[in-house]
Amino acid sequence: MAEKQVRVGLAGFGTIGCGVAKLILEEAESIAAKTGLRLELGCVVDTDTESARPVKLPKSILTNDINRLLNDDTIQIGVELIGGTDAAKDVQLKMLDAGKDVVTANKALLAEHGNELYEAAHRNGRCIAFEGSCGGGIPIISAIRTGLVANNITAMYGIVNGTCNYILSEMTSKGEGFSEALAQAQNKGYAEADPTLDINGGDSAHKLAILASIAFGYEITLEDIFVEGIESVSKADIRYGGEMGYILKLLAIGQKDKEGKVSLCVYPSFIAKDNPLARVNGPFNAISIFGSAVGQVMYYGRGAGMMPTASAVVADIIDAALGNSVTTFRHLHLKPRSETELLIEKIGNCVSRFYIKVLAKNQPGVVAKYSKVLGDHDISISGALQHEGAGPNNTVPVVIITHSVQQKNMTAALVELAELDVLSGRPVCIRIVDIPEDKD
Ligand code: HSE
Repeated sequence: MAEKQVRVGLAGFGTIGCGVAKLILEEAESIAAKTGLRLELGCVVDTDTESARPVKLPKSILTNDINRLLNDDTIQIGVELIGGTDAAKDVQLKMLDAGKDVVTANKALLAEHGNELYEAAHRNGRCIAFEGSCGGGIPIISAIRTGLVANNITAMYGIVNGTCNYILSEMTSKGEGFSEALAQAQNKGYAEADPTLDINGGDSAHKLAILASIAFGYEITLEDIFVEGIESVSKADIRYGGEMGYILKLLAIGQKDKEGKVSLCVYPSFIAKDNPLARVNGPFNAISIFGSAVGQVMYYGRGAGMMPTASAVVADIIDAALGNSVTTFRHLHLKPRSETELLIEKIGNCVSRFYIKVLAKNQPGVVAKYSKVLGDHDISISGALQHEGAGPNNTVPVVIITHSVQQKNMTAALVELAELDVLSGRPVCIRIVDIPEDKD
């Protein structure tokens, strides 16, 4: 088959950039055989042109001058892998203005400025392809945009941060503490350079903003997403939750009701032990999607790292070179903010079951007092756990599982529970997420 040459300019020669360069250089033959496209690296731009990298580039293509990429009309596709939001945004806008299609894995940039960048791409008749931004090597964007295109997507439940999933898995299976598990995730290279955004749920929120916008067709911003991280999760709560039949995961959840109202949340979630997402361990990611025609589908794989993410980026380069991305991107119509804002459900109205842990004084009448607070807020108890024997200061941990209730009721009850003189400290509150199962 005749080969078409496609010249690619890479901005950012860090971990993912090295993976992309490696695939383009080492897999050119097999990609040409499969696609009829011969990928060629036109130039690679990075402020650091000195440090040793795990890939050897052809002579003189590494430069610190972005203009070499922007002004080279033979380069059709610009790949932005700089990361961060300021310089990366500027580079993407300049690539689009220079008439290049853009490929990126920059989730933070798209979550914060996606709408502006998409507009610039539409204005220039170009596209932005961003498969590598969510789920690492899992082709989740293409699944939503093409594989599931016939569906009205009603819900998605995702484990989309490998660092958090690794930490929670280690705490669950080995009883490790949070800090030890985080240090291991950092040593293994799963965490961002600054892991704050991993553990506070920010990274998952970035990915949810991108996935939910294309799944539900809304202009979604980070302000639309309720976010809680895993910083204050303890091994004791993971253990108690386990005794009650649950596994703790950091979930990114997007749901759309019949009226088109969307709720978007990232928080630590207890899920049933026999749910398929409960068996996703270590740095792996998985996203379970519910479509009106297909039912439930689940996508699983490595959600981070050099080669899995490079796999997604190179797939985007090929799709852009084939002209597919421009066509699908042209039809990316997101409901404008004026409409979207009215359709985002406030967290207070969202309903779930809850795991509550209180430290109760081991004396008569205590159960009556905390049960009354819950009852006063229309919160019904569906299960409870209290082991025999008291701990320090004659207190005992009591775990309560509630029936479904609105978040605002629970928030008000937690304030009162924290003030009860028969309880010590603030109650722990973790949501229980009942992921529907598509069963015959
Ligand atoms: N730090 C991210 C994670 C990398 O742990 O999932 C991929 O976005």
